[in-house]
Amino acid sequence: MTAYKIALLDGDGIGPEIMTEAVKILDLVASRNNIEFDLRHGAFGANAYFAHGHAFPDATKKLCDEADAILKGPIGLSHEASRKIPVDMQPERGALLPLRRRYNTFANFRPVYLPQGLAHFSPLKPEIIGDGIDFIIIRELVGGLYFGKKETGINAQGRRFVSESLEYDEDQIARIARVAFDTAKKRKGLLHNIHKSNVLKSSVLWNEVMVEVGQDYPDVEVVNILVDAAATYLCLNPGQFDVMVMENMFGDILSDQAGGILGSLGLMPSACIGPDKAYYEPSHGSAPDIADQNVANPYSMIGSVAMMLEMSLGMEAEAQNVWHAMQSVFTQGYTTADLAKPGAQNKMIGTDAFGDLVVEELAKAPV
Ligand code: NAD
Ligand code: IPM
Ligand code: MN
Repeated sequence: MTAYKIALLDGDGIGPEIMTEAVKILDLVASRNNIEFDLRHGAFGANAYFAHGHAFPDATKKLCDEADAILKGPIGLSHEASRKIPVDMQPERGALLPLRRRYNTFANFRPVYLPQGLAHFSPLKPEIIGDGIDFIIIRELVGGLYFGKKETGINAQGRRFVSESLEYDEDQIARIARVAFDTAKKRKGLLHNIHKSNVLKSSVLWNEVMVEVGQDYPDVEVVNILVDAAATYLCLNPGQFDVMVMENMFGDILSDQAGGILGSLGLMPSACIGPDKAYYEPSHGSAPDIADQNVANPYSMIGSVAMMLEMSLGMEAEAQNVWHAMQSVFTQGYTTADLAKPGAQNKMIGTDAFGDLVVEELAKAPV
């Protein structure tokens, strides 16, 4: 029997709740497909810091090293609670960035998808949405400001100062460019390159390399858009986008905005792919404001399972079945709290009920 080792990093806040629902799906996928998932939980995030003194303990590193794929829940605390942890040990700097660096997961796929039948979840008007929202943000994940040189201190004038640099070399840009062009080639042959070359030298080099790599993809049309304008177009005409590529920080911000146009960050799964290892996580955070209330939307976590099935385990058809199962739960009129509309006849369901209904739907799909 085929067996896969999957490291499960539940995370903080709503992480454990939505991971529980993801595990229900994994259990069903295993039994339907006659495979085995060896699921092992590892401490990761603020919970790990408080229990073990480190947000990414050695035992979890070993678990991840040995895993065929990693499924990760969101980490982090509220702004106020974070202050209980020294800055460099906080889970973002102490666990998440080290995870990305450890496996060099440079290619972050953040699909932004809402079929027309679910357009009512979006805050955008129906005439803007047209026949649905369907594009993908490809975010460079291990370069730029996040991983550049940092310095803090007292300057010559006696003032506290800080400096962080946005660094890329041409190889880092070329490899994410290739991922973006390959994705565009498989989809509609349209690639939006998001940049800020009117100000940032890093974007000038980025764009040069985009042109060079683009020579190998004559069938892909490239449209260059400044990042500030792109933010507007996401609201006014998201239908123009199919594949968008951008550097790390731009991708962080625009992908949350993309969640906003869908109606909730709870609809945003993601895949973080490196040369030898990949991990899968919701694009959103640990949502401390709604933790432990059974109201979080687990779509992002279950969608991350679907991306793992497709991108790490070669189970494309089953991944599609998972997506369809989730959409069909919504199409039946059920809604999680984040997507409920005031005054509408909502068939409101909690985190666990959503997972159970997805299991019911998936069980009906032919293997
Ligand atoms: P957040 O993404 O956690 O929440 C923003 C808003 O979206 C909140 O109102 C929240 O309730 C809602 N939301 C998010 N996911 C949802 C879901 N699945 N269902 C329903 N509603 C959902 O952002 P934040 O509050 O700014 O950050 C909280 C913590 O998460 C911070 O510590 C931050 O650093 C961390 N964070 C972690 C990751 C990660 O692990 N990859 C990503 C982003 C933020
Ligand atoms: C994300 C998150 C992270 C990021 C934080 C938590 C470090 O916001 O995955 O989008 O900025 O990359
Ligand atoms: Mn983010």
